[in-house]
Amino acid sequence: MYRIDIMTLFPDTVGDVLSESILGRAQERDFLRIETHQIRDYTLNRQKQVDDYPYGGGRGAVLQADPLFRCWEHIRSQAAGTPRTIFLSPCGKTFTQADARRLAWEHDHLILVCGHYEGVDQRFIDECVDEEISLGDFVLTGGEIAAMAVADAVCRLTPGVLADAECFENESHWDGLLEYPQYSRPEVWHGRTVPEVLTTGDHGKIERWRRKQSLLRTRERRPDLYERLDLSSRADQKLLAELERELSRPVLPQPAACRPAREEDLDAMLDIAAQAQRFLASCGVDQWQDGYPERQHLLYDIDRGESYVLTCGGEVCAFFALSPRPEPCYDAITDGKWSSDGDYAVLHRCAVADKYRGAGLGDRMLAECRRLALEQGRGWLRVDTHKKNKTMQGLLRRNKFQYRGNVTVSVNGGHDPRRVAYEKRLSGGNT
Ligand SMILES: C[S@@+](CC[C@H](N)C(=O)[O-])C[C@H]1O[C@@H](n2cnc3c(N)ncnc32)[C@H](O)[C@@H]1O
Repeated sequence: MYRIDIMTLFPDTVGDVLSESILGRAQERDFLRIETHQIRDYTLNRQKQVDDYPYGGGRGAVLQADPLFRCWEHIRSQAAGTPRTIFLSPCGKTFTQADARRLAWEHDHLILVCGHYEGVDQRFIDECVDEEISLGDFVLTGGEIAAMAVADAVCRLTPGVLADAECFENESHWDGLLEYPQYSRPEVWHGRTVPEVLTTGDHGKIERWRRKQSLLRTRERRPDLYERLDLSSRADQKLLAELERELSRPVLPQPAACRPAREEDLDAMLDIAAQAQRFLASCGVDQWQDGYPERQHLLYDIDRGESYVLTCGGEVCAFFALSPRPEPCYDAITDGKWSSDGDYAVLHRCAVADKYRGAGLGDRMLAECRRLALEQGRGWLRVDTHKKNKTMQGLLRRNKFQYRGNVTVSVNGGHDPRRVAYEKRLSGGNT
């Protein structure tokens, strides 16, 4: 059993907090014992005074050495071994997860001393304290909050408190990394979807995604920790190369938002469509080279409530149309077949502005399609593209769309009407 004794002027407050929830249950099951001790009970004066003025002058009062010593001696006299005595102090070494681990694994009994007022008579510290721990570079009124923090962090690493070691081994600061972002149900909340990889059930992929997020977070938020990591393994090198590629893409000035398109967006949408036409031409793709999509097509989508824009800082940076209605030309699929007759949504006309190409808006667009299609009760998402449109096909494959066969669309003026057809099963919906 791990034991912690806390010397404080506020034993009830500290005891109440540490007997709640996980630590409370661990104490009931005898994995832990946390005792609090009122320092005032160890004074020899009737007023139970524990503090006095500081020698040399100055404001405030100092906790006297003698009541502290008596309290400390009482705890030691009842201890089986030699407890480690820690004074919580802003002058101590800043507490880390490595300290929590050391105290949990190298000791089985701690005495935590909470100071108050201006602090504690140095002679008690010199005579009785093994180490001084600070919670951070700030000053608290008393050591109680710091003692509770240290006790909590240490106790949850001791055997029997958490279900198993995995509960803390994957957490922030265990191996020098910050934890990846966590998500729970529902899958769509306030229009924000859970990263799709987490819903795939592919544990290898999920592991890699989580490690990559951890690396990214640590690098961005705690460069001091990041510098100390050993990332020499092949797996980490691969993840870092992926990160480099992703981070060298254009960065959106603000997170993109998705909303239904309005008529006043038409000029911006047509401008983006023209950019996409030029981009496709530069890639040698005979798609949208007949002037399509024209104002009337985009207006048609808006009027039906099937057109959406992604905006960034109010500026339209991409558009797409998502139709809940079956696409007639998909009935005549060749060289393959659709994998289900279930209700599907179709992604039509979509494009991203040149200046945001590579910023992840395509992935975002597909995530929004998935969200909207799920809201419409669709179990499948279908889309077609030109067989030379490698950009679109790469985006689709990256987002787990599967090639299903070929379809023929209507185009003007002798352009190539053949398209490759892709499909993706969505979780939920009527599949
Ligand atoms: C008001 S503080 C005394 C600060 C002291 N005069 C100084 O300037 O270092 C009273 C008590 O709160 C506790 N305390 C304050 N800040 C703390 C911190 N950052 N970490 C741990 N304990 C702290 C210590 O036990 C301290 O003796």
